[in-house]
Amino acid sequence: MPSINTDNLDVNSGHQVYTPKLLRWYDLIVHGVSNRWFWSCPTQLLEAWFDDHATNNHLDIGVGTGFFLDRCSVFSPDARIGLLDANPNCLAAAAKRIERYHPETIQANLAEPFEQLTEPFTSVSLMYVLHCLPGDQAFRKRVIEHASAVLTKDGKLFGATLLGKPSPTSWLGRQVMASYNRKGIFGNEQDTLESLKEVLETSLVDIEIQQVGSVALFVGRNS
Ligand SMILES: C[S@@+](CC[C@H](N)C(=O)[O-])C[C@H]1O[C@@H](n2cnc3c(N)ncnc32)[C@H](O)[C@@H]1O
Repeated sequence: MPSINTDNLDVNSGHQVYTPKLLRWYDLIVHGVSNRWFWSCPTQLLEAWFDDHATNNHLDIGVGTGFFLDRCSVFSPDARIGLLDANPNCLAAAAKRIERYHPETIQANLAEPFEQLTEPFTSVSLMYVLHCLPGDQAFRKRVIEHASAVLTKDGKLFGATLLGKPSPTSWLGRQVMASYNRKGIFGNEQDTLESLKEVLETSLVDIEIQQVGSVALFVGRNS
C-alpha cells in the first residue's frame, strides 16, 4: 500500500510492524502476557466485551491475527464478517483463521474514508487499534468518523484501547509503553479517558466507557 501522509503524520507507523513472523508471536505477547502483566486487564475481560457487542453482521477494523473474531461465541455459521486493515499480512492471517465464515477483506487505511464497502454493518470493532495511531485527538476523531460511517443507523461501534495517561501501574508496563511510543508502534502518550470520550462523542451517542488497568473499553451507537 502506498505511503499516505495526512497533516504530516506517518499514518503507516501503527501497522507496519506486523510482519508474518511477528504475527506468529502476537497472541502470546499481547493476549498471553501483556494484558495481564503490563496493562492489568485480563484477556478474558476483553473477550467478554467483544462477545457482548458483536453481531452477526460485523466489521472488525485492525484485525491483527483475528484473535477475538476466532474466539467470539456469538457468531452463527452464516455470519457476515468483514475484515479491514491497512496491513496485508494481518488481513491474510485473520482471514485464514476465520475462513469458516468466508470473511470479506478490505485493505484500507483508517486515515481515509473507506471506499470499497457496500452494505453497512450492525457492529464494528476497534480492538487495540486507537493506541497504535499517531497524532492527536483531531486525527482520532477522523478515524472514528470513518469507522462509524460504515454502521447501520443505530449500529454499534465498540473496542478497547490502551491509555497513555495515567501511566501503567506496573514498572515493566511503563517501560514497555514508553519504548513502543518511541518506536512509533504506539502513539498514545496523550490519550486519557477524557480525550477518548471527547473523540467518541463526535460520531456516537449512548457512549459507555469502562477502565480496567490501562485499558479503556468503549461502546457507542451511531447517531
Ligand atoms: C495492536 S493490533 C490489534 C489486533 C487485534 N484487533 C487484537 O486486538 O488482537 C493493531 C491492528 O491495527 C492495524 N492498524 C494500525 N494502524 C492502522 C491504520 N492506520 N489503518 C488500518 N489499520 C491499522 C494493524 O495493522 C493491526 O492489525
